[in-house]
Amino acid sequence: MRLRNVKNKKEIMDSSNYLILDYSKYKGKWNKYFGNNNPIDLEIGMGKGKFLYEMALNNPDVNYIGIEKFDSVVAMAIKKIPEGISNLVIIRMNADYIEDAFSKEIRNIYLNFSDPWPKKRWAKRRLTSNIFLNHYDKIFKGECTIIQKTDNKELFAYSLESLSTYGYKLHDISLDLHNDPEVLDNIETEFEERFSKNGPIYRLIATKE
Ligand SMILES: C[S@@+](CC[C@H](N)C(=O)[O-])C[C@H]1O[C@@H](n2cnc3c(N)ncnc32)[C@H](O)[C@@H]1O
Repeated sequence: MRLRNVKNKKEIMDSSNYLILDYSKYKGKWNKYFGNNNPIDLEIGMGKGKFLYEMALNNPDVNYIGIEKFDSVVAMAIKKIPEGISNLVIIRMNADYIEDAFSKEIRNIYLNFSDPWPKKRWAKRRLTSNIFLNHYDKIFKGECTIIQKTDNKELFAYSLESLSTYGYKLHDISLDLHNDPEVLDNIETEFEERFSKNGPIYRLIATKE
């Protein structure tokens, strides 16, 4: 993502009800934070937040937490997300440290258009590398479910192999999500809106006991 500096990002972040700065305080207690026992779904690399808030508005019985590593992107998301959504939280953090924020409480992890890190020596930075899959094991509650969408064929192929080697079962693989007659409920992300014009969108759902 080309990063645009948002000048007053600090003020925007400080004034947001969605952004939780002291997130480690809620580790293992996010249901208490939300004040309900609804499932908690996580989007890692939420970008400007369109997918996250549309999911939250469409599914009021699910709590949504979005993670994003850059202040400027978080500030852009805060400006975009409509006010008053009670089932949505944003955390500014690098997913490398995801275990600082969560413990055995996540139902689904969404990875939408994650950075592909194309060079072989960068493979461990990909959000479906076994380093991240190991972190995710610690934050899932019960069955682990990862839902990935990407326009990057190499990242998709890598994820299929990495997830199945790690013990995930792969379901609902789509090699052209936007022209798949079985997919009726796709919520598009900002990247998806931009890049689906250039070629197919790939989607997988992976589960592990
Ligand atoms: C290509 S953008 C996609 C944004 C959004 N998901 C979409 O589909 O429109 C990837 C986003 O993931 C964020 N990101 C990448 N690696 C991350 C990490 N390790 N932890 C948190 N955010 C990350 C980037 O800063 C960027 O905003």
